[in-house]
Amino acid sequence: MKTFLLALFVGWSAVAMAMADDADILVADFEWETWESSGWTVTGEAFGPGPAEGTLPRQMKVTGYLGQRLVNSFHGGDDPVGTLTSPAFTIQRKYLNFLIGGGGFAGETCMNLLVDGRVVRTATGPNTQPGGTEALDWKSWDVRDLTGQQAVLQIVDSRSGGWGHINVDHIVQSDRKVELVTIGRDLTVDRKYLHLPVRSGAPMRLMRLIADGTMVRQFEIELAEDRPDFWTYTEVDAWKGKTLRVEVDRMLGDSTVLEALTLGDTWPERDQIYAERLRPQFHFSPARGWMNDPNGMVYYDGQYHLFFQHNPFGTSWGNMTWGHAVSTDMIHWRQRRNALHMDRLGTIFSGSGLVDHQNTTGWATDQHQPIVAVYTSAGGTSAESRGQPFTQSIAYSVDGGRSFTKYEDNPVLDHLVGGNRDPKVIWHEPTEQWVMVLYLQRPRFAFFGSPDLRSWTKLSELEIPDGHECPDLFELPVDGDPENTRWVVWEAAGRYFVGHFDGQTFTPETPLLDSCYGANDYAAQTFSDIPRDDGRRIQIAWMRRGRYPDMPFNQQMTVPRVLTLRTTPEGIRLFIEPVEELAVLRTRKHSHEDVILHATPVRLESGDGKLFDIQAVFELGEARTVGIDVRGHRIEYSVDDQQLSALGRRAPLRAEAGRITLRILVDRTSVEVFANEGRVQMAHCFLPDADQRELTVFATGGPARAPSISVWELRPSLPADP
Ligand code: FRU
Repeated sequence: MKTFLLALFVGWSAVAMAMADDADILVADFEWETWESSGWTVTGEAFGPGPAEGTLPRQMKVTGYLGQRLVNSFHGGDDPVGTLTSPAFTIQRKYLNFLIGGGGFAGETCMNLLVDGRVVRTATGPNTQPGGTEALDWKSWDVRDLTGQQAVLQIVDSRSGGWGHINVDHIVQSDRKVELVTIGRDLTVDRKYLHLPVRSGAPMRLMRLIADGTMVRQFEIELAEDRPDFWTYTEVDAWKGKTLRVEVDRMLGDSTVLEALTLGDTWPERDQIYAERLRPQFHFSPARGWMNDPNGMVYYDGQYHLFFQHNPFGTSWGNMTWGHAVSTDMIHWRQRRNALHMDRLGTIFSGSGLVDHQNTTGWATDQHQPIVAVYTSAGGTSAESRGQPFTQSIAYSVDGGRSFTKYEDNPVLDHLVGGNRDPKVIWHEPTEQWVMVLYLQRPRFAFFGSPDLRSWTKLSELEIPDGHECPDLFELPVDGDPENTRWVVWEAAGRYFVGHFDGQTFTPETPLLDSCYGANDYAAQTFSDIPRDDGRRIQIAWMRRGRYPDMPFNQQMTVPRVLTLRTTPEGIRLFIEPVEELAVLRTRKHSHEDVILHATPVRLESGDGKLFDIQAVFELGEARTVGIDVRGHRIEYSVDDQQLSALGRRAPLRAEAGRITLRILVDRTSVEVFANEGRVQMAHCFLPDADQRELTVFATGGPARAPSISVWELRPSLPADP
């Protein structure tokens, strides 16, 4: 009777739940300081002296645990092993719910439920490959068949090496299974941006935007349930006036995370952008999120367009999108809306851009020639494209690069082999066709020809020993002589051939040569369509592997640099020098003449700046080494070895007439070194030490002389925000 009356008031289902569900019983929250005080017994070293306070030394950030502590068997790294065993308890509820993360190896990195000494349930973390995530996630065991039995939990780490650890937290007996469900919220789009809170290390979740019942965008995001590391954004103005449904998979039903989402015509924390501690000051970096290869580099109507591999939703690689920035001088960049988002064919991997001056595509309008982006549709790299292979696609802009439309019959080049990708397309004047150079599979690259960018025919193949990814192909005069040209084929690691290209086949005339000797130089690309009266071949590379801890962005580009072919005693070689446009950033100049170098470092007056453009000439004299220390990093030339070394890397460099020249660009988190007018080039990233600001020069083994050292302080190029 009582039940019936209650049901009338509050609804039958709620009552049914209240009657069926007894309160949860906490088995362990691991909020103790030591194992001793807990009643759990520990063996081995892996579990340490007690529950860990989050992340352990040298571990990726551990997230997803509750409270302050958790079981974390990464004490001493992956190698140590051990077990952790609970006191016996009686199974009194239908489910055992818990958080688990770490290694995914059955029997080796796992939690077992034992009844009568037998393993009756087992669970592991999710990771078996390098990479992965240290986020803990919920799991449930249905233990209805074990009700009333005495049980013991055993957490096992018997594995050494990659992902040889296990993380566990918050074990509860419950009558309710922890269920991860899809949650959703409807928003009326009246603003440009949707704001998204990100917490790096939070469980990676799939988020979908649905407009008018159609899924319009889908991406993975470490959605912050509380305290975001930063806010990012995605443009939603294409659906202005409509209802946009935002859905996230695999969330706890009572999650309130979607309540935090907001819309705005700007985005949160935008005013702090570029003021961050590790933000490059005159190298391009994205406002938010991850960046890798430069893509689609093209000049059109007074503007340089730099597209780039971009994860707008997090600071790790993923969700590959083409970000976009424009500039009139290649120094001051303005980030635009993202140009290409993933679709059913895949995420948008690297590729190139060009202007279709002759309207071979037929897409020209009265106002604009088509700008065409040729890219890899990386099938299988997103939920939507599961099972698709890597193919090549195109998109075009007829508004000067403001917006792009994907060609409706993509892909334009079907899958050929493996992870074939990174099409670089040029107009080959003598044979009047478009030529694509494409990475097939290490070490194979191929050339294709097309009259209209839509249909492609294979022309030939080229092997680049150990060559990999992101090819480039261009023609350059030798020593500035337009009558004497060569072609260059380039691959991602900056190794290149000089040779001949007849529109069909590339024939190398040099061995494979090196051009990038620094630690952080990869996947460079050159601009298409630089006007003839300029005539320069201008390249930008991704400064791979730079570190920017705790920043809302990740990675930076090199400065733009000019490539030339020059005759050297070794043969024709590529020279790489920064673009002259950098001079616009120079402020105060400190000139040093006739500096005598010896073992005691000589301090160079450099004002109170931290950003420098340094030009130095060193006459080697009697010295065995000469060099310069920049913010605590040594750049040194060894006369005996004929080697230039900088930040742990070395490059062969021949002194000319007893001297070497150095051009050094110093940004907040990078140093680029160009020696002997670009004969050698080294790009490096570093983490700045606020106390190390000095510039000093030295020589060892005997005196040397620097006839001139110019130090310009630079102003930040303060890239305009999106
Ligand atoms: C090079 C690369 C390319 C690929 C892209 C994906 O860094 O691996 O081959 O297109 O990055 O982001």
